[in-house]
Amino acid sequence: MSSEQLASIQETDDAKFIQIRRHLHQYPELSNEEFETTQAIRSWLAEAGIRIVDYPLATGIIAEVGGRREGPIIALRADIDALPVQEETGLPYASKIPGKMHACGHDFHTAALIGTAYALKAIEEELEGTVRFIFQPAEERAKGARQVIDSGALTGVRAIFAMHNKPDLPVGTVGIKGGPLMAAADGFTVEIEGKGSHAAVPDAGLDPIVAAAHVITALQSIVSRNVNALQSAVISVTKLHSGTAWNVIPDKAVLDGTIRTFDEQVRKQVLERFTQVVEGVAAALGTSAKVDWIGGPPPVHNDEALAQLAQDAAAAAGLQTVVPVPSPAGEDFAVYQQEVPGLFVFMGTAGTQEWHHPAFTLDEAAIPVSIRFFTELAVHALKQLGHGGGEQL
Ligand code: NI
Repeated sequence: MSSEQLASIQETDDAKFIQIRRHLHQYPELSNEEFETTQAIRSWLAEAGIRIVDYPLATGIIAEVGGRREGPIIALRADIDALPVQEETGLPYASKIPGKMHACGHDFHTAALIGTAYALKAIEEELEGTVRFIFQPAEERAKGARQVIDSGALTGVRAIFAMHNKPDLPVGTVGIKGGPLMAAADGFTVEIEGKGSHAAVPDAGLDPIVAAAHVITALQSIVSRNVNALQSAVISVTKLHSGTAWNVIPDKAVLDGTIRTFDEQVRKQVLERFTQVVEGVAAALGTSAKVDWIGGPPPVHNDEALAQLAQDAAAAAGLQTVVPVPSPAGEDFAVYQQEVPGLFVFMGTAGTQEWHHPAFTLDEAAIPVSIRFFTELAVHALKQLGHGGGEQL
């Protein structure tokens, strides 16, 4: 086949995966409601004769390529869910579903993974092992990775890889870094119980609003006074509810928020300190406090050897690499990394807005780039893991 023929086939394929991304973009579905999305992925995979492997998942789908030759199993994962956001991009292929949008680019991740499955299918005979494709539901609610693991779809996998699009990196650049990359995202609800009274007679009650104000102020001392200066953490109180009338001191105040940390030790320290500060300050003001945790994903912590392997794959695919700045957002890919070595990378998409913004966009030229990168990465990983590189990995 001439290189012109090859290039024109490549272009046809690129157009196909851009169309796939646009279709997904027009019909976004929220976490654990990705029924149509799952059906669409299934039919696109079936078109290329890619084998679907059945696992007990209500939404999301698992497929495999390879296995003709002896070798390890590696997994490539894409998240498939959207967000409850009203799209404001004005694009011709904007969301057709009111109040729902692929505002985090998971449509891009999904289209690129389908493209990678097609590319690996084309060289299936040469693959030294098996590539498992995980189309994961419910990333936005940090539930999907656990659902995939519980379904058994991670069993036998030696290494797992995934990406997130990165609006502030140019197309053709991939951010690769061993160690921490994204934060543990823990949520909290604090209930401060006081005693209601007439607003003019505060001495007859125990004011939960004053207690909440002191708690919120004292929480600021955890990052500034308890966390080591070379480590990092974020504590944000994002909701505060109390009271019903201007002349009544209520009996309760409720505050919600989130804690972000990049290290399990720091995470443990901050969560412990949080409870001490909340309970101690509330008690000092005569009220009582109860902390409820909304468990988020642990930090994304990349395997160093897999990061090196990805550098080699990026070079082979002709991509630039950078050491990315870690993101304080959470990502449930971290849950897989607690089970098997994993690598999460940032793919440059030259977007105009950050993740979750109603005008979030990305440059679709990043789709063929991602397909090239993950195809090389899969081939490299199978070779290295299969040739005794497994111990180091
Ligand atoms: Ni996302």
